[in-house]
Amino acid sequence: MSKNPIKDRKREHLDLAGLPTMQMSVSNGLDAFRFEPCALPELNYEEVDTRCTLLGKSLQQPLIIASMSGGTRAAKRLNETLATAAEQTGVALGLGSMRIAVEQPEQSATFQMRSLAPTVPILANIGGAQLVQTQGIEDALRCIDIAQADGIFIHLNPLQEVLQTQGDTQWRGVLNAIESLITRSPVPVIVKEVGHGIGPTTTQKLFDIGVRYIDVAGTGGTSWAAIETERSRTNSQTQTGQVFHNFGINLYDSLRLIQRNATLSEEITLIASGGIRSGLDTAKAIRMGASFASAAAPMLAAAKQGEKALIELLRQWQQQLQICCFVTGSASLHELRHAPIID
Ligand SMILES: Cc1cc2nc3c(=O)[nH]c(=O)nc-3n(C[C@H](O)[C@H](O)[C@H](O)COP(=O)(O)O)c2cc1C
Repeated sequence: MSKNPIKDRKREHLDLAGLPTMQMSVSNGLDAFRFEPCALPELNYEEVDTRCTLLGKSLQQPLIIASMSGGTRAAKRLNETLATAAEQTGVALGLGSMRIAVEQPEQSATFQMRSLAPTVPILANIGGAQLVQTQGIEDALRCIDIAQADGIFIHLNPLQEVLQTQGDTQWRGVLNAIESLITRSPVPVIVKEVGHGIGPTTTQKLFDIGVRYIDVAGTGGTSWAAIETERSRTNSQTQTGQVFHNFGINLYDSLRLIQRNATLSEEITLIASGGIRSGLDTAKAIRMGASFASAAAPMLAAAKQGEKALIELLRQWQQQLQICCFVTGSASLHELRHAPIID
């Protein structure tokens, strides 16, 4: 039996998540439509403005590096790379699950990135399943404090947990716990999945208790069913995990169905993730009503090559978004939201 199962799990997740076989074999759904090209943009490329604001801080493009890292020495180095690149390119930084920082306070430093990313939003992270445990709300508040965060992600990952050996299967009371956290948190609470998606029914429940930020984290990208299947110990676990490889709602359907409800569409800030793989995907997500896009696997792959590679990737995505705005005749993200499409 390992002395430190959380650390082992983190290490295995970071190693496995980079493998192509851990990606889903279904699309994020954004191929359901194309932009109608505008051959007469009546606009100069240099004038296109992709800047926006998240939680009171300016971004150069509407992008969040998704929650991934922290809790081990290698994960600290990865967070440092992500934080430095986020600051240099003006994108927001999500931290990985901080459960380990509250259970093993000596790991807190692996999440403390404020000095490297002083001007961009930093988002703490803890699991919904941790919130219902004794001290769960205090632990979440502690995570915000440790990270000097501008917001906190609560990840809802029941599929991943139930497929994981010794995963958390006690999910009664999570909704109430999120409601309590909202009343006590000094910063906004953002609810996310991890790649199997949040649909309109769950969004309505979250909205009713006061959640105003949802990261849909839909199918089309990293499959946590695949990652946990790879880590499984028995044939039966493997076979069951394979059944759920592509399970869930894709980000396109999620954004579309959530916004069918007019109240939700006006009052909820949507973040699109799960298979976002380029600046054109960001543009399509914005066109579908998201305010921000977010990605994990491509950021991890670039960060493994080093800070320079990640900065280059983030600049490329910004350029691709800017090009898409230009060739759809959109001078800003606001105009892009109304660009004509072909479906
Ligand atoms: C290596 C790795 C570690 C992750 N760890 C976390 C985590 O600790 N907390 C969380 O909410 N999501 C975590 N995620 C999920 C991502 O934040 C994201 O929701 C998911 O990977 C879908 O995005 P993608 O298709 O761009 O990878 C992790 C993803 C990766 C690739």
